[in-house]
Amino acid sequence: MASRVIPVEPFDLVIFGGTGDLARRKILPGLFRRFLSGQMTADSRIIGAARGALDADGYREMVRAGIQEFGGAEAQDEAGLGSFLERLDYVSVDATVEEGWSSLAGLMRDGVVRAFYFSVAPALFGPLAERLHQHGIANAQSRLVVEKPFGRDFESARALNRMLAEHFHEDQIYRIDHYLGKETVQNLMAVRFGNVLFEPLWNNHYIDHIQITVAETVGVEGRGSYYDKSGAMRDMVQNHLMQLLCLIAMEPPSRFEAEAVRDEKLKVIRALQPVPAHHVVRGQYDSDGERPSYREEAGSPRTFTESFIAIRAEIANWRWTGVPFYLRTGKKLRARHSEIAVVFKDLGHSIFEGDEKRHRNILSIRLQPNEGIDLTVTIKEPGPGGMRLIDRPLDMTFADALGEEAREIPDAYERLIMDVIRGNQTLFMRGDEVEAAWTWTDPIIAGWEKRNDVPKLYDPGSAGPDDALMLLHRDGRRWREIRG
Ligand code: BG6
Repeated sequence: MASRVIPVEPFDLVIFGGTGDLARRKILPGLFRRFLSGQMTADSRIIGAARGALDADGYREMVRAGIQEFGGAEAQDEAGLGSFLERLDYVSVDATVEEGWSSLAGLMRDGVVRAFYFSVAPALFGPLAERLHQHGIANAQSRLVVEKPFGRDFESARALNRMLAEHFHEDQIYRIDHYLGKETVQNLMAVRFGNVLFEPLWNNHYIDHIQITVAETVGVEGRGSYYDKSGAMRDMVQNHLMQLLCLIAMEPPSRFEAEAVRDEKLKVIRALQPVPAHHVVRGQYDSDGERPSYREEAGSPRTFTESFIAIRAEIANWRWTGVPFYLRTGKKLRARHSEIAVVFKDLGHSIFEGDEKRHRNILSIRLQPNEGIDLTVTIKEPGPGGMRLIDRPLDMTFADALGEEAREIPDAYERLIMDVIRGNQTLFMRGDEVEAAWTWTDPIIAGWEKRNDVPKLYDPGSAGPDDALMLLHRDGRRWREIRG
């Protein structure tokens, strides 16, 4: 694997929010792994930027502790870690205060890629972009990475886009959705567009419905103050599940290249139909006596925010009319289990007498954990007794099929950051895509607000509220099991 690593150009990466949780857990451990693999070369630098009055050594110690906690086995490499930390620097800046910005300007080098990572609240995007511009820190070649949430509705997302557009061109802006950096999510495109097998069947003639499930066992834990203002719709559906839906449903792009892929995704979002109220189920986890309820964890005793949501979505175009897309995501569910299941139609006519069972091919793409793909096929039950048919999966678990290589799968963040340095926007959301996604979710949310919708309670460790089961039962279908 190491022989396939191509070093990226030298860079200066400034992380605003450099002492924050995301930087400590994901961004810096990811960069460290890329450094060890030789992809981030020794002449690159990472500059943490935050309000805290730290010096570079204090920052390095903080990052060391973060990597030791979240960096996995590689963190044992003391020499490598020491060498990585030497690439780090720190500046204390505040978007609302003039001080500190000229020191940052003084640190920037010419002749290397300049990237700025806004791992901060969206309210700071505008002021930070303004400072970078005002002090000549960002130039026309610089790249800007912005974290979700990108707005909380169409209007706020558009305002953010406009604000960023004052100083950065669209081809400099990298809006992160870390689901696009997941290996299995990219595999989805490989499976769809790298095999002759599936594409002819990928339409409403052969597909009955599609299920997208992202189930988590964790609750909101310490993130209640953010999450309670978002809920599962804004936190997961508008971005992560929407991206999965796009990749499953889009037309084949002419090339695997940023504009071609993003144009096709946008067409899917624009073809999504408005969702009637009875096609959405919201849930909130209750306490089971031992584990706290959502309200207790979020510290908000009367909140109606949803920690679970299930939606029956429809795409109005030639390929998909008549094929429901059932989306579901939630916290404190039975297992951590993310899967896309493409359920094909029943056989029109069976030639096997006495075989009353409904046999269906199902292509299941397991995103996490136990990453892999399986295709349920119908075969003969072995032994005497006539033609009895059974369904079994053709199972490809990546860890078995790929061995060593599957163990070296990069974390979503590290891949995406390297793509920023390489200047490849394929796995990032374009401004119009994000706005279109809000255009679909806004009326659904507005409907709840108008009706004072109360989410259904569900037990922690369950599959969500019973009403979510009904969403499919009504259509004569069933959810796939949530299992770890
Ligand atoms: C984040 C959400 O974007 O994605 C979290 O804010 C969620 O609420 C997380 O837990 C899930 O990501 P992953 O990679 O663990 O599936």
